[in-house]
Amino acid sequence: MSTHARITASVYTSHVPAIGVAMDQGRTQEPYWLPLFAGYAPSRRWMDANRPDAIVLVYNDHANAFSLDMIPTFALGTADRYAPADEGWGPRAVPPVHGHGELAAHIAQSVIQQDFDLTLINRMTVDHGLTVPLSLLFGEQAPGASGWPVPVIPLAVNVVQYPVPSGRRCLQLGQAIRRAVESFDTPLNVQVWGTGGMSHQLQGPRAGLINREWDNAWMDRLIADPRGLSEMPHLDYVREAGSEGIELVMWLIARGAMADLDGGGPPRVAHRFYHVPASNTAVGHLILENP
Ligand code: DHB
Ligand code: FE
Repeated sequence: MSTHARITASVYTSHVPAIGVAMDQGRTQEPYWLPLFAGYAPSRRWMDANRPDAIVLVYNDHANAFSLDMIPTFALGTADRYAPADEGWGPRAVPPVHGHGELAAHIAQSVIQQDFDLTLINRMTVDHGLTVPLSLLFGEQAPGASGWPVPVIPLAVNVVQYPVPSGRRCLQLGQAIRRAVESFDTPLNVQVWGTGGMSHQLQGPRAGLINREWDNAWMDRLIADPRGLSEMPHLDYVREAGSEGIELVMWLIARGAMADLDGGGPPRVAHRFYHVPASNTAVGHLILENP
């Protein structure tokens, strides 16, 4: 039996705010939303069978916890608790997010000593970028629930204000997170989640842009050729997947944490789903298991 923590799987999903609203208002069975939530039904069953002890959740804040006052590129949450952010209509009625202080402190120590200059966060609220993926994978939580089923270590990535980190740097950060987790001397089952994307543009003359072909080819490469994909320049994302399509670089962090980037075998695709539209966004979703 393993004496150290292990990364068992990575989960990837879009984080569209309207998905959270549909769940919070009990509208998931409406025709518009049915096919989307059907695509996550296998994921919830998979999550029931493969519930981790902790999740490192890579996401981006949308000028809720952060602002132009301070723009950390990579910020790791080391708090015990994070309240849902008020994004303009009051905070979502979902439970607070509980952290994992010991594992977070270990990841901070290890990743910073591997030369990634992380910002550390001891207090912040979490917006739809973090809570909508939790809702999608864990479903509706009982009213008044004291927390989500699993502790979460938030890793906030700046993909909102340029300059944003390169795909290459994101993949390397994932590799560093893998080394950090696997050197934690408690036998935890840890998942790394990459969120955001897929193609969407919320502003300007190209608002509403969706690129199915590009999104699906990008997911193919994420599975089979993450190193090659990590070299894709930002301009390709913006041109092909829209200004907010750049959120996809965060998926490369989760992908970098998988065993095959560390000399192990290739991941198994446990689930793959793609759906258009959800609000203004193409929704992509993937679950990869380590061998
Ligand atoms: C939408 C998508 C996002 O990723 C986001 O952060 C906000 C809005 C949308 O499609 O409406
Ligand atoms: Fe977003």
